[in-house]
Amino acid sequence: QHVRYTAEQLINAVRGTNNDTDHFRALLTEYDLSNAEGGALMCSAEAILRIPDKTTIERLITDKISHADWAHHLGRNKSKFVNSTTWSLLLTGKILNLSGVLPNLLKRCGEPIVRQAVTQAVKMLCKQFVLGQNIDEALQVAAGMPDYLFSFDMLGEEARTTADAHRYFESYMQAIEVIARSGQQNDVHTGPGISVKLSALHPRFEWRKHARVMRELMPRLIELTLLAKQYNIGVTIDAEEAERLDLTLDIFTELCNDPRFAEWPGLGIAVQAYQKRAPYVIDYLVDLARTTHRRINVRLVKGAYWDTEIKLAQEKGLSGYPVFTRKAATDVTFIACVKQMLAAKDAIYSQFATHNAYSVAVVLELAKDYNDFEFQALYGMGAELYAHVKQKYNIPCRIYAPVGAYHYLFGYLVRRLLENGANSSFVNRVLDEDASISELVQDPYELVEDAASIENPKIPLPIDLFGDTRPNSQGIDFTNPLEYLPVLEVLQAQAKSFKAKPPIHTTAEQLERMLALAKRATNIWGQTDPGERIACIQRMAHLLEKHKAELLALLVLEGHKTILDALAEVREAIDYCWYYSYRANIDLSVQVLDGPTGELNELQLLPRGTIACISPWNFPLAIFLGQIIAALVTGNTVIAKPARQTTRIATRAIELLHDAGIPKEVVHMVIGTGAEVGDPLVQDLRVNGVMLTGSIDTAWRINKNLALREGAIVPFIAETGGQNAMLVDSSALPEQVVSDVITSAFGNAGQRCSCLRVLYLQEDVADVIIDMLCGAMAELSVADPMSLETDIGPVIDQEAYDQLQEHSQKLRQTAKLLYEVPLATELHQQNYFPPTAFEIQSITQLEGEVFGPILHVIRYPATQLGHILNEINATGYGLTLGIHSRIDDTVEFIVNHVKVGNVYVNRNMIGAVVGVQPFGGEGLSGTGPKAGGPYYLPRLTVERTMCINTAAIGGNATLLNLGDE
Ligand code: FAD
Ligand code: 2OP
Repeated sequence: QHVRYTAEQLINAVRGTNNDTDHFRALLTEYDLSNAEGGALMCSAEAILRIPDKTTIERLITDKISHADWAHHLGRNKSKFVNSTTWSLLLTGKILNLSGVLPNLLKRCGEPIVRQAVTQAVKMLCKQFVLGQNIDEALQVAAGMPDYLFSFDMLGEEARTTADAHRYFESYMQAIEVIARSGQQNDVHTGPGISVKLSALHPRFEWRKHARVMRELMPRLIELTLLAKQYNIGVTIDAEEAERLDLTLDIFTELCNDPRFAEWPGLGIAVQAYQKRAPYVIDYLVDLARTTHRRINVRLVKGAYWDTEIKLAQEKGLSGYPVFTRKAATDVTFIACVKQMLAAKDAIYSQFATHNAYSVAVVLELAKDYNDFEFQALYGMGAELYAHVKQKYNIPCRIYAPVGAYHYLFGYLVRRLLENGANSSFVNRVLDEDASISELVQDPYELVEDAASIENPKIPLPIDLFGDTRPNSQGIDFTNPLEYLPVLEVLQAQAKSFKAKPPIHTTAEQLERMLALAKRATNIWGQTDPGERIACIQRMAHLLEKHKAELLALLVLEGHKTILDALAEVREAIDYCWYYSYRANIDLSVQVLDGPTGELNELQLLPRGTIACISPWNFPLAIFLGQIIAALVTGNTVIAKPARQTTRIATRAIELLHDAGIPKEVVHMVIGTGAEVGDPLVQDLRVNGVMLTGSIDTAWRINKNLALREGAIVPFIAETGGQNAMLVDSSALPEQVVSDVITSAFGNAGQRCSCLRVLYLQEDVADVIIDMLCGAMAELSVADPMSLETDIGPVIDQEAYDQLQEHSQKLRQTAKLLYEVPLATELHQQNYFPPTAFEIQSITQLEGEVFGPILHVIRYPATQLGHILNEINATGYGLTLGIHSRIDDTVEFIVNHVKVGNVYVNRNMIGAVVGVQPFGGEGLSGTGPKAGGPYYLPRLTVERTMCINTAAIGGNATLLNLGDE
């Protein structure tokens, strides 16, 4: 009750204050994220300051401002500031709409003014959250706020390159010197401090890179901390994504154990209460403090990456979320952590970082008369709250103060806009006068107790992502040793006995026997109840889950996949089982069709007979099984021909199919060359359909073979290659582009048919992106895929290596080599091919698909977009396309003009998920239907319609009995 009372007082004080920052937050409340206009504002804000060319800025403004409906925001908010801003946006929108009619006039005098006005407004928005563009400026602003303490954060995170990491490091070193010179420091608790994101100081701050990070980052961090110690400036390590927590703790532990920091009270770390591990982390830190005879500064926060955590866990198919899914659960954990921290005063100097008046009131209540702690707030948030807290309770408040050019603000700004704009945030609700005080001071314990479950039912667990339709395949958390060490053990054990040996080829007699058996089995299997077939495939899904580690090991050993790529592939195979089972249930049911009375009309899909499934080595489990499962579940028998390079994986997959209950005579496997088994198989009239994933040459060969057959004409589903491009305009975020290019071009050693081959960069940003790309390539580890640390393994065999080598040598003569990852000669001898980037002039310089880690980069002027799209279409391929742009009109324009099967916007362009991104191309890239899509199974069936005249015998009794109500 007392907590509630204090919180109410604080809220009244906040609501009673009226100052400048209020205006901005009122604006953010009006344009919050629940409406399209809020999204438009946020998008302009995050992109506008980094776009170098006027044309693109104007396009962005037109795109975001003129399409939104500003008028309905007028007068809704009491703030004059909000209304005048809305007026200007409305007018701007009107001017821009008009400019469509009077383009020349407004181009000359209207648009530059609009551009300047919007840019200025965005700068003001950034200024709300950034103390200064450099440390001197920041110190000046800080000097004007003498009642507060500061922790300076030199804006930056997730360095992509060593050069970026050095730049961030230097900016911290310089900041420490400048802060020290400003003479503010005295003791760490009453003087200024700094906050550091470790991901800014190392380009690969990942658990997988543990050894490297400890080796390379630790000395840098020690150097930085030693300098801070020299001036008694406290250092706090920020908390980032949950998957970085263990690595962060290992680094912090080493810092605490370092004798050079013995007894120094300046070491600090942020702990996120939204993480389920938070109380354990606090326990760990208390122990660490006691064993290293120090007090640790612990900044308790709720957490800034909540939406990211949910998405990451869903994508990875994790067993659960690392964070709570109900806000009240986070609030309860926050309180639990406050109690733990206050109970360990000898070990912890508490820094409670929240803008929530209720959380503040809880702290005040629990601390009672104790006052050796501080509150913290982010710059631009919570000012009114802490003005009041300081005045009434005299507890110090430290402001987290970002410093740096707006250019580096992206991630930080987006998180702040989300926090201020989300209606789950206290800062958003407190300004919304429709929100009652009682709503704002609800006891989180009561909320949790009253809830039916700790989990939020609106956020399904990763495994339940597809609701009742099917389960999601389960991932492995490769940042959790308890989960992944057993998998690595299986891999090591299998590696000991694995020896590469050439497969035994199928003879003509064997093929004949299989064809005969398969043909004979068509009746029994085809007439088996679809439910029984579906049950077999679902058993297969369970078997694949059960044997996941073993299959993953085989993919690494025989397919030379990295461990992460291998996991993705096993998951894809499992997804095929679940998805096609789900689709079969729908597609194979008898459909009753509408028609005249006295008639029964039914449509049913029935199996075709025997299907030949021909698959490649690059997805020896997923594509191999994807085809087979689709054919089997629809009631066909199968003769599968895997690639010769990966027959062990195929053999194991077939064994598992048999274990799942598929009769031996229903699914067969043949091994051999195209001439030995491929041609005779597709030429045989007992084969009633062919599925191929492979090269266009093989597809043409099969097509010709089929054309020569003088029997029934059968379906041919071909998925072939691509000349896949990614288009990047100057509104795109370079860091995001570079990550996505690295994944798309070099993941799986460039051996996915979806891989990026041609990267188009708008010339205004090309240099910046190319520099960053080359720097990021330098961070790739091309090594033995047996190690979890490896990013890229060898290509499949010597033949593939030689082809890549030939292409690379040729380009050295005709193109500009941008970067080649340096590799030891012995690696070259084992078919490791270095990721390489060339700059070329035009896509027409390429003769066809180059299947490996070679990327071609082309610069383009913004005005030439249409021409480029024509060139891409003219290649004849149409598989995948990536787009990086913040401008919806640009995205729409591209999407409407390219003829490709799978388009990916502002993300990487590989890893299509079964049933989520049905996969397959057009033109030279494939015939369709898309694998993992709703039209796949019907192609493997024949359609039968049955019409019964139910009135033929005895008339239409049903009609006569209808009545007339
Ligand atoms: P509240 O409105 O009470 O809480 C909002 C928070 O609740 C959200 O941010 C989220 O964490 C949580 N939440 C919202 N919805 C849900 C849900 N459905 N389920 C579960 N939880 C939910 N965060 C970091 O991650 N790392 C840092 O290093 C960091 N440093 C910070 C430093 C300072 C000085 C401050 C003040 C905050 C820092 N934060 C950090 C926290 C973060 O940026 C937010 O400011 C903070 O989470 C907002 O919490 P609140 O108590 O002010 O507001
Ligand atoms: C963030 O960068 C404040 O560290 C927190 O969002």
